[in-house]
Amino acid sequence: MQGKALPGFRDFYPEDLSLRNHIFATWRNVARRYGFEEYDGPPLEALDLYTRKSGEEIEQQLYSFRDKGDRDVALRPEMTPTLARMVAARGQALKKPIRWFSIPQLFRYERQQRGRLKEHFQLNMDIIGETSALADAELIAAAIDIMRAFGFGPGDFKVRISDRRVLRTLLLGYDIREDSLLQAFAMLDKTSRDEEWVTWQLGGAYTGSGQTSRPIPRRSLIGLEPVSALLSSLPGGAQAIEPLRETVATLTTMGLGDFVEVDLTIVRGLAYYTGIVFELFDTQHRLRAIAGGGRYDRLLKAAGGPDLPALGFGMGDVVLSELLKERGVAPRASIELGAFLIAVGGDDMPWVLKLAHAMRDRGIAVEYGLRHTGVRKQLELAAARGAPRAVIIGPEERHAGLAVVRDLNAGTEAKVPLDKLLNGYFD
Ligand code: HAM
Repeated sequence: MQGKALPGFRDFYPEDLSLRNHIFATWRNVARRYGFEEYDGPPLEALDLYTRKSGEEIEQQLYSFRDKGDRDVALRPEMTPTLARMVAARGQALKKPIRWFSIPQLFRYERQQRGRLKEHFQLNMDIIGETSALADAELIAAAIDIMRAFGFGPGDFKVRISDRRVLRTLLLGYDIREDSLLQAFAMLDKTSRDEEWVTWQLGGAYTGSGQTSRPIPRRSLIGLEPVSALLSSLPGGAQAIEPLRETVATLTTMGLGDFVEVDLTIVRGLAYYTGIVFELFDTQHRLRAIAGGGRYDRLLKAAGGPDLPALGFGMGDVVLSELLKERGVAPRASIELGAFLIAVGGDDMPWVLKLAHAMRDRGIAVEYGLRHTGVRKQLELAAARGAPRAVIIGPEERHAGLAVVRDLNAGTEAKVPLDKLLNGYFD
């Protein structure tokens, strides 16, 4: 028998699961505050849902196989194609804009490294049916507020925002041919942050006279003002930058300006994005992106559905867990007992059983020793289980309808009537 899970897959021991539950609860809480409804889909989909639409990178990472019914299938590597399929199937029947969220487990055959596994859970929040930049700002604000809900501030992470419409205008203005844009995007996505200049090595990708790449200083691609200045000199530039400007202005009005940075070197690896794209990073940029998303206005139509604009983001649990553990804000206990019940002698056990059951019926978490031992041993077990109190029943207490409640932290004791224990004592 193998001692470990497959490489890149995780066992969730109780302390790990309590962190995961904390992450899910925070995600659900903020999604609810933003008025998003939860949905889910199947973990296994038809293979062709992912080929072509998601892009080459994800295609190479698919867990795919032929099933016993001779269907080519794949474990879902991302949620967006499933969402597009589900919305396309209901078409016009759904009320717009749709505001949905989901927490799927996803599978990608990636080389395992820090923050990157072969499976992860990913919060997805998407809005479908809205072109306004208010929708872009709404989703970015939700991503920021999730991080704030975990206790992170502007010193801990930043959202880098870009726009593929701006990038398109920029690259066309730099004489790159329309049919080479995707290739140029991919190249920009891979350029190092340490390089002072951004250049494109794209043989034969240039129009007319400009047969070579004109380098752009990296600093003119970062910050709204430098980017505006760069764009204003290009045809269509002033118009192309409007949605980005509006999104940043909206976030600033919300009081979230400190979290946001315009950065045109953000492109995103997935093929379907058409407008604003963004990624969340820890400020030191030590880990992979915490979250990423953007607008994908043409995917629904391509999925055979209605021609609806759409946008969303995904936030993974892996990088987030690393950050939470580093800061020591991860919760530890996975159970919180109200009390540990102790029978002084074997004859007291029926009373303990009755009381335990009545307390559980009232929603109080209690435990007792599953084999009878001496009181000292039971008190040790109570402390080991992290119980704040022991409720002790002996012959004397039984006859008086009482229990001794010992505060295991303070070491103090009080006699408490049984009916009081059941009614309000633990509230
Ligand atoms: P993505 O950038 O591929 O986007 O993934 C989003 C986030 O999921 C990443 O920033 C990262 O935190 C986490 N993640 C991705 N792959 C792994 C992995 N192998 N191990 C650990 N964490 C990982 C998407 O998937 C888009 N479908 C998101 C989206 C939703 N766009 C619009 N709506």
